[in-house]
Amino acid sequence: MVEIGWRGHRHLLSIDDFSREELEAMLNAANVLTLDSDEGQKLDILKGFILKPVFFEPSSRTQNSFEAAMLSMGGSNLSPHLTITSSMEKGETEQDTITTYAQYSDFLVVRHPRPNSVREFAITLDKQGNRARVINAGDGSNEHPTQALLDLYTVMKEFKELDGVTYLLLGDLKYGRTVHSLVLGARKFDGVSFVGFPVGGLSLSPQYRQNGYNEHDISDFRQFLETLPRTSRVVIYATRVQWERIARERYENFDQFDEKEKARIRSEIYKELNYQVTAEHLAVTPDLTTLLHPLPRGSEIADELFYSNQLQVAPIRQMRYGLPVRMAALGLYGGKEKEIFELPKGIFNLPAHAQV
Ligand code: NCD
Repeated sequence: MVEIGWRGHRHLLSIDDFSREELEAMLNAANVLTLDSDEGQKLDILKGFILKPVFFEPSSRTQNSFEAAMLSMGGSNLSPHLTITSSMEKGETEQDTITTYAQYSDFLVVRHPRPNSVREFAITLDKQGNRARVINAGDGSNEHPTQALLDLYTVMKEFKELDGVTYLLLGDLKYGRTVHSLVLGARKFDGVSFVGFPVGGLSLSPQYRQNGYNEHDISDFRQFLETLPRTSRVVIYATRVQWERIARERYENFDQFDEKEKARIRSEIYKELNYQVTAEHLAVTPDLTTLLHPLPRGSEIADELFYSNQLQVAPIRQMRYGLPVRMAALGLYGGKEKEIFELPKGIFNLPAHAQV
């Protein structure tokens, strides 16, 4: 029987499920698949595979990069789940809806507001003997494993290695699932340390505190940067405040509020809890420093820095790397590891202008 999934992992649910070697294999696969100029270049490795995007929360990057990844690998996407056109509108449960999609697709890319929900959906699908692989595209404030893969891929591209990196985690460390997955993934490498700079007391929960983790007030950020040895490899990982999760804690009926009221609460929370990484901060960082942000951004990085050509500012590259990383995840979980590593690397690694 053909193995479903990759190296004994049926689904992609938590970054913590992978060993260092497995993470390296995924990142290497992404590197083989990196399309710096991919116009018109498509592979057929996943021809015949079908992906269903199942997003119960909004998404710009994750959903589109997964869909683009599937198309770039020669597969197809079903139309994204929308409550209004699904039988959920008729009262069908979320699990029944997901079980339905699993009958027609090979990959379910699922985002849901409840922590651990995606794992629960996957377990139920397994009990029913489905072949669909489930990819966790974010389960509430818990995890976002493929974001961590692309974050690590970006660090690897910027620094050429993942050992010995100091991660400075900024913003909402309590509800930010990308921070949680990043910590769980990055700690698999040697000599890695984490320092938190939460805003408004949104501290990292104990289960994610790794490798001598300590926290400082965000107001001490600049001063802290000045204490770092010039030779350190530093990642400044800025995140937005997860206002919607904070609002749900503050207001019991938040989900019933109208859009205008939600927008008012959003600007209230963003105003109350904000910080900004500036060019002045970057000017005092060690030589090898990179600024990452999973996006979307609030006021954490102003336009002039975000859209600058400053080499240390990587969020746009990071966002682009979502494509090869998700191509790698789909390819590996589609059982195509051998095919990926047999690809003529040169063709896919070089930007068009460098190809002769
Ligand atoms: C993040 C998410 O959804 O967790 N977005 C993303 O996928 N890049 C970050 C966020 O929403 O703040």
